[in-house]
Amino acid sequence: MDSFSDISPARLPALLQAMPKAELHIHIEGSLEPELIFALAQRNGVKLPYDSVEDLRAAYAFTNLQSFLDIYYAGASVLIEEQDFYDMARAYFVKAAADNVVHAELFFDPQTHTARGVAMQTVINGLHRACVDAQADFGISAALILCFLRHLSEEEAFDTLAQALPYRDKFIGVGLDSGEVGNPPEKFARVFARCRELGLHLVAHAGEEGPPAYIWTALDVLQVERIDHGVQAMHDPALMQRLARDHIALTVCPLSNLKLCVFPDLAQHNLRALLDAGLAVTINSDDPAYFGGYMNDNFTQTFAALGLEARHAYALARNSFEASFIDEAAKRRYITRLDDCFEGFGR
Ligand code: HPA
Ligand code: ZN
Repeated sequence: MDSFSDISPARLPALLQAMPKAELHIHIEGSLEPELIFALAQRNGVKLPYDSVEDLRAAYAFTNLQSFLDIYYAGASVLIEEQDFYDMARAYFVKAAADNVVHAELFFDPQTHTARGVAMQTVINGLHRACVDAQADFGISAALILCFLRHLSEEEAFDTLAQALPYRDKFIGVGLDSGEVGNPPEKFARVFARCRELGLHLVAHAGEEGPPAYIWTALDVLQVERIDHGVQAMHDPALMQRLARDHIALTVCPLSNLKLCVFPDLAQHNLRALLDAGLAVTINSDDPAYFGGYMNDNFTQTFAALGLEARHAYALARNSFEASFIDEAAKRRYITRLDDCFEGFGR
């Protein structure tokens, strides 16, 4: 690609919108908008501790990860039937299609649901059907990644894996999320080893609030293929070299980091520094209904705050395809579409 310099800064917002991209870090339960939470609560007869949509939205003032997780798990309590899971994911795909997301790998938190008596089958079948329809209706390729909640035990993670294995063909990998500090990756060493034997892809949240040491053990103990967030890597030069050398992608979520006070403002986010250090950075939305924006909101606000340019847009979108878990031929096809988009803008 050599047409970056032809693209004027004025056309950058249109380029960010139009370029095809993959989303690799979205918790599907974090796409539940307050309106849908209330609609599902009514449909299922669930009583919410909030009087109105406005009341609920007003509670979205977070000080750290845990302050968000408390509200996020409460919001997920309205999901009961398979159709609820379908409707939630469907609403996400409508937003993703509008942002020209052409491939998405969705995290889901089964333990949040099975702990309330919802069957694993209900969760996975609803989400999977939405993924199948996303391809048919929007041309979005989509896949599911099952996340273990790290504040729970490894034994509970093993139990969750056993419940999910009858549906092994409906998810492509496993991840690790929830409260990071005090729950290091190595707590889940054995269950990740088992998942690796099963041929599942492996990712983990590390270095969102937790120290660089958690990123090291996610890589060396869990042997993950990508790091979710990873922004704390900046404090460890040897780790930065390792991530660059091994082309380990970071699924960075700028608006999430802003809302959870990982950075005081977007202008102080280290995404540009991570890119400049040669890391395979991607931009993602994390929990868009809670953090004030979907993919293109993340792109446009981050570009404005950090003064990023067309060449950064190309690198970020290209990284998103390279770091995805689709086959090589599909990666090439998406990157060709990306090149065509940039050439169109350069003319
Ligand atoms: N971090 C950890 N766990 C999560 C997140 C996050 O950003 N979103 C949903 N679960
Ligand atoms: Zn996340």
